[in-house]
Amino acid sequence: MSWLEVSLRLQAELAEPAAELLGRLAPNGVAIEGLDEGGQSVLLRAWLPIDGQLAGRRRALEEGLWHLGQIHPFPSPAFRSIEEQDWAAIWKREYRPLPIGRRLMVLPSWSAADPGERLVVQLEPGMAFGTGAHPTTRHCLELIEQTLQPGEAVVDLGCGSGILAIAAARLGARRVLALDNDPLAVELAQLNVQRNGVAERVRVSLGSFPVDGDERIDPVELLVANLRSDTLIAMLQAGLAAWVRPTGRLLLSGLLDSDLPILNAAAKQAALQAVDVRATDDWRTLLLQRA
Ligand SMILES: C[S@@+](CC[C@H](N)C(=O)[O-])C[C@H]1O[C@@H](n2cnc3c(N)ncnc32)[C@H](O)[C@@H]1O
Repeated sequence: MSWLEVSLRLQAELAEPAAELLGRLAPNGVAIEGLDEGGQSVLLRAWLPIDGQLAGRRRALEEGLWHLGQIHPFPSPAFRSIEEQDWAAIWKREYRPLPIGRRLMVLPSWSAADPGERLVVQLEPGMAFGTGAHPTTRHCLELIEQTLQPGEAVVDLGCGSGILAIAAARLGARRVLALDNDPLAVELAQLNVQRNGVAERVRVSLGSFPVDGDERIDPVELLVANLRSDTLIAMLQAGLAAWVRPTGRLLLSGLLDSDLPILNAAAKQAALQAVDVRATDDWRTLLLQRA
């Protein structure tokens, strides 16, 4: 079979949403090249089968990039046609280990890299967001590492691949509830939780805030939510702080700088105040506590 290669060179912080979009259209996944801790620019490559669905896939890709471009300008993709390749080998060559913070190391599941003293979060690549490459995930991992006390209970709201939940368990959380409203993410997070040997402490479930029906969430010391600004603002207004104990913290990420005034107003209404802020380009991550 012949394939149409789509390649996009872009800033590292744009890689994850673009890779997610490409991953939904490309059956063999997306290769990310040149991604490292200090990496500024990365090359994404994905391959679309040249068949009857190509025109539809190409249109979906162009529409998806247009939508992403509303948040941040996106470069145009380049296309070239190629012959059959060993996709798994491409994946494995190009998906790199990521040291994060002082104590964590995110490793692709097949990696034999030596983590040294670092705590490993091993991930299977899949359709869900959360590889450690995006600044919002990185901010969360750094702040979990800095603030989590061993024995604390955690909620990871919008767990994606499960990366934050697994890291929290590795850093000593007593129990973690990982929720996502996307069944594909729940499936991948469950797999990753099992592979990391933390299934006794991490429960992955399809769900969101507020919960459906009568389920009760026991308030936790740390709630982490890497979602969109508008979702987080609506959740704060609807009482998200009730999921956190009086002395607990909310770690909110995925925020755009321009949304901070509204977010801060919603936090103030909920008697919360920001005690730490992380910034990378337009992305912001806030650590909130009761005022
Ligand atoms: C940006 S990703 C974050 C993934 C991971 N926690 C990380 O930090 O890399 C957001 C995840 O939240 C999920 N999500 C989006 N809106 C949600 C909602 N209202 N309730 C629960 N999950 C949601 C998405 O399916 C996605 O997996």
